[in-house]
Amino acid sequence: MQDLNETTITPAVLEQMARTTDPRLRQIMDAAVRHLHNFAREVNLTPAEWLTGIKFLTEVGHACTPIRQEFILLSDVLGVSALVNALHDKGAAELGTQTSLLGPFYREKAPELPLGACIVANPSIDPITIYGTVTDKQGNPIRNARVEVWQTDELGLYDLQKDGGAGMDMRGNFTADAQGKYHFRTVRPLGYSIPLDGPVGQLVTAQARHGFRPSHIHILISAPGYRELVTALYFGDDDHIGSDTVFGVSASLVVQAKDDPTSPIQGLQAVRYDFQLGKDAAQGTGRLGADPSAVVPAH
Ligand code: BEZ
Ligand code: FE
Repeated sequence: MQDLNETTITPAVLEQMARTTDPRLRQIMDAAVRHLHNFAREVNLTPAEWLTGIKFLTEVGHACTPIRQEFILLSDVLGVSALVNALHDKGAAELGTQTSLLGPFYREKAPELPLGACIVANPSIDPITIYGTVTDKQGNPIRNARVEVWQTDELGLYDLQKDGGAGMDMRGNFTADAQGKYHFRTVRPLGYSIPLDGPVGQLVTAQARHGFRPSHIHILISAPGYRELVTALYFGDDDHIGSDTVFGVSASLVVQAKDDPTSPIQGLQAVRYDFQLGKDAAQGTGRLGADPSAVVPAH
């Protein structure tokens, strides 16, 4: 006969779960229950507050669609995505360029574009050039590396946030040349607020946070035998460079567009960034996130 109180409930739950046959599931759920119980004890959680939390998570689930992943957004604003990325990098056989968040606006099957193409259909400001080389850690070029890029437009909107996500714009996939060189044209993206019109936005607002991400361009680089690199370049003169709501900025990823006599396209300001890929250790994907339609399929 069990006689449970606010402390003995924890070992009782752990004991029932001890028969879990998958050792990793057991380890994760053990820790989750212990931390969850300690959290409830620490804040002396009331039934009404727990119900508020359950309602919140229900709303987060309801806000998920094939073009919106509110749970990933929640993980992002709580710093869990950045933490899991950092843990993943700690286990890498070899680390190349620093990683950053995939975010919720990555799309598979973006247009395949030739080197030098502009990823923006109708730029309303002067384009800039992004260029550089993809190499291994020793500086050897990685021929034909795949370079996927996506960003907001000059007004701070992703294509997924316009016209119900119908068209693809401000994104493209490139293949580096035989010397690992890549270049493309784009507009300088505007920093933007993460979507604040859902339950995660209500939380961020209640916490008196601004909700902004500094101006950035997402980059995903892959090549056979190398660890997939999920990263982003951040423009250093953005007002929110030091207070990213989702904790994606690292100093080594901060760039500035400037006149550059060595840029492959003259007459445009340019950002040169050379990426390094580490060797693949077959330790699973570093993508924390996905094309939202891979999580909630369209019917
Ligand atoms: C983004 O970089 O696009 C992003 C990342 C996390 C949350 C929202 C947006
Ligand atoms: Fe982004």
